[in-house]
Amino acid sequence: MVVDSALNQLNIYKKGKVRDVYDLGDNLLIVATDRISCFDYILPTPIPEKGKILTRISLFWFDLLKGVTENHFISADLDRLPAVLQNPQDKDILKDRFMITKKCKVVPFECVVRGYISGSGWKEYKNNRKVCGIDLPADLKESDKLAEPIFTPATKAETGHDENVSFEYMKQSIGEELSNQLRDVSIAIYKKADQYADEKGVIIADTKFEFGILDNKIVLIDEVLTPDSSRFWPKNSYKRGKPQSSFDKQFVRDYLELSGWDKNSAAPILPQDIVLKTQDKYRQVYKQITGIDF
Ligand SMILES: Nc1ncnc2c1ncn2[C@@H]1O[C@H](COP(=O)(O)OP(=O)(O)OP(=O)(O)O)[C@@H](O)[C@H]1O
Ligand SMILES: [Mg+2]
Repeated sequence: MVVDSALNQLNIYKKGKVRDVYDLGDNLLIVATDRISCFDYILPTPIPEKGKILTRISLFWFDLLKGVTENHFISADLDRLPAVLQNPQDKDILKDRFMITKKCKVVPFECVVRGYISGSGWKEYKNNRKVCGIDLPADLKESDKLAEPIFTPATKAETGHDENVSFEYMKQSIGEELSNQLRDVSIAIYKKADQYADEKGVIIADTKFEFGILDNKIVLIDEVLTPDSSRFWPKNSYKRGKPQSSFDKQFVRDYLELSGWDKNSAAPILPQDIVLKTQDKYRQVYKQITGIDF
């Protein structure tokens, strides 16, 4: 289990909620830890192996999506690690949970695609029949499939919650041409992945991509189509008109909701059975998507 990778030989580039990112000059070393975040808080209890599962899922999709988008991935080979990490202790920490990637200038928007209406999209729709400024039909029920997937960007807030914004806002902030390109590639990725997942019995209700710019080109970065960045629903239990049980953090969310935690202070410790059930969910989704036992 890795909660904090603490590779003191390297300079830290960024510490995210889940990933420790180290600076390798032109490249980055991204380490997916076993930290879990919920309601934007890092929980005090990690989920063993989670970082490895997320890394494998992202690698799977990067490869499948090669024809649709460039991505930041360079290598996940232990032998390609810098010399200062070529020792058994560091290799043991990093095995199966790291990627060496291109270092990109991060686009300051989360590129969200929704194929179904759920979560914050459903909340907004109930208020004004719109999501991020997009008009939707009047008769939608919760969890309904949309006629076409929609692009609903959000700001990448440094602190606190990401905020849904209109496409107009995004265009004014980073320019029309780049915004159009990001929308088009996000929808194309979603469609390709959704078609694949559908054959495996998984619905991708919505998902969030991050992009960077390198040499004036758009590059898919961070993680892709993992249970942390997506709402996956098992196809065989899907029913419109209500919230769906999802593959991933549902046990954790439910536990936290019932725990009396105010979501405004340090999060409570998770009981062992919630940890194990959650770990099992991450394993299941990996198996269902890739066909391989974790
Ligand atoms: N190729 C890349 N170039 C530059 N920055 C990157 C690249 N890939 C990922 N990042 C950044 O590294 C960080 C990874 O951290 P992590 O995934 O834990 O996310 P976070 O910032 O806490 O937010 P979230 O949970 O919303 O993903 C993110 O800030 C991400 O934007
Ligand atoms: Mg991230």
